[in-house]
Amino acid sequence: MISAEELKRRITQLAREVSRDYRGRNPVVFGTLKGGFIFLAQLVTQLDFDLEIEFISARSYGDSEQSSGTVDLFKNISIDIKDRHLLIVEDVIDSGLTLKWLLEDLEKAGPRSLEVIALLDKKSERKIEVPLRYVGFEIDDRFVIGFGMDHAEKYRNLPYIAVFKDLNSN
Ligand code: IMP
Ligand code: MG
Repeated sequence: MISAEELKRRITQLAREVSRDYRGRNPVVFGTLKGGFIFLAQLVTQLDFDLEIEFISARSYGDSEQSSGTVDLFKNISIDIKDRHLLIVEDVIDSGLTLKWLLEDLEKAGPRSLEVIALLDKKSERKIEVPLRYVGFEIDDRFVIGFGMDHAEKYRNLPYIAVFKDLNSN
């Protein structure tokens, strides 16, 4: 669906926008595990100003292709995020449910600002309105794998994004 070259090109553009907005604000870049780890890595290596990196784990899918409707959050934050500029890095926004939970949780800590950058946006699937500051690509409702994203924990290491096709069913 999206080649490694296309991903690289778009992430470079996004990094330029993020630099313009965040340079000098010492933001906390918040990676969402596991799916967002490659996007975050490629993004931050193109940001040449002070920032900090934290990770949060949010799980709503289990091993299925459908959102389970409830979200588990696992945090291990080593810094105080009160009054800090937070930038959440997400792999893909589907129903919006995971992000909604995450935003509400982080809001309680009293950040100075809270924005989201998502690599992929399945806009037509949204069940809850969520504010996205930056989006890499808008895609149709297909289950995708690669570049950090999995199906039952596999395929995260693909350097491109592909549509998942289950060869065991038809
Ligand atoms: P939402 O809560 O429905 O918005 O789902 C968001 C989360 O589900 C994403 O951060 C992903 O981790 C996962 N997800 C949603 N769609 C896909 C997909 O097509 N492939 C892999 N993971 C997905
Ligand atoms: Mg995710």
